[in-house]
Amino acid sequence: MTPTLQGKCILVGVSGGIAAYKVVEVVSRLVKLGASVHVLMTRAATKLVAPLTFQAISGNPVRVELMQEQTTGHVDHVNLSHQADLLIIAPATANTIANLAGGHASDWITVVALGVRCPVLVVPAMEAEMYAHPLTQRNIATLTGLGWRVMEPEEGRLASGLYGKGRMPEPEAIVAEALKLLQPRRDLEGRRVLITAGTTWEALDPVRFISNRSTGKMGYALAAAAAARGADVTLVSGPSSLPKPPGVRFVGVESCLQMLEACLEAFPGTDITVGAAAPADYRPAVYHEQKIKRQGQRLVLELVENPDIMAELGRRKRPGQVTVAFAAETANLVENARAKLVAKNADFVVANDVTAEGAGFGTDTNRVTFVTATEVEELPLLSKAEVADRILDKAVSLLGR
Ligand code: PMT
Repeated sequence: MTPTLQGKCILVGVSGGIAAYKVVEVVSRLVKLGASVHVLMTRAATKLVAPLTFQAISGNPVRVELMQEQTTGHVDHVNLSHQADLLIIAPATANTIANLAGGHASDWITVVALGVRCPVLVVPAMEAEMYAHPLTQRNIATLTGLGWRVMEPEEGRLASGLYGKGRMPEPEAIVAEALKLLQPRRDLEGRRVLITAGTTWEALDPVRFISNRSTGKMGYALAAAAAARGADVTLVSGPSSLPKPPGVRFVGVESCLQMLEACLEAFPGTDITVGAAAPADYRPAVYHEQKIKRQGQRLVLELVENPDIMAELGRRKRPGQVTVAFAAETANLVENARAKLVAKNADFVVANDVTAEGAGFGTDTNRVTFVTATEVEELPLLSKAEVADRILDKAVSLLGR
């Protein structure tokens, strides 16, 4: 079926990179698919492609100067931001990315980016050193942390004549990504998905517990993504301050034993289970009914092992059920993940180097590697929302086996 963008309003922000000429083709394709396209240009971009070109292709006036008479009595940038179904920023130069990450409102692109309520697609294009620079990478991480989709540039010949990673992806790929963002998949319709999220509290006495740094962000992103794709989702969550994702069955628990009980109840009949939680491996051997008092000497705690929830679910798995375990590691990522793949009878493991920049506990981004018995697939630094979708993509591909 040919995709259609009929009735969609797409804003295309063009900043001053040589790849701006390729964006004419992007706009043309979007218009042919039926979208109403409005182009916003930085002044630098107008040196590379004339606004008139974009005006002719889009059939709409092109916005360059912020302080201009307005076409309506309302504040134009607010109107435009609120109408938008998608904002694409292509090419996104290092300067525009820095301005976006800094929250600046210095041109049409940055002003509109601060006002939109729709998905944002950022398409970086620049010289390889600029793209690889830690400042640019930090700025990109800020944008992905907002849930924006940042495409990876391609490797090839750059404007300088040098070769490296920095080329803007081809118009076809940009439009395909736009379609993905505008037409969310419903490939989990009729499927039951179980997600575990967050930490557990292992009580020592009425006021103290043993825990870890998991906030629930990764698991909540998975639950939200699965619900958006049409699944009937049960989210079993340890203590977390995050708002409950809408449209999911929420089961709040405190300890690993409680998490196990909730998972055992939900597991039969589930199609996909993802263990993103960080349940404690140990709990205190003794729970003290009264608050433990200082005794002026060393206190030795005895811990006993908690059940391994994902291993327990792996044992009960029926043909057709897909289970995905995480592996939070600080060393020997793939080796340890492979051991967990077997121990938990999982279909694949999402290996998480929790020492990597922008990855692991509490961050809005994550850098993970999918590990199976025969394959290792490293993903780039992505927002947790994007990681969640990639995990679900892989799980869905295994469902039919
Ligand atoms: O919550 P965030 O702040 O967003 O952080 C995300 C995260 C770092 C917690 C997440 O990305 C992650 O890596 N989760 C797995 C944490 C963990 O417990 O890893 P592990 O390697 O110890 O455990 C391996 C697997 O067994 C995991 O699927 C885990 O859920 C599961 N497990 C662990 C212990 C236990 N008692 N029962 C389990 O089922």
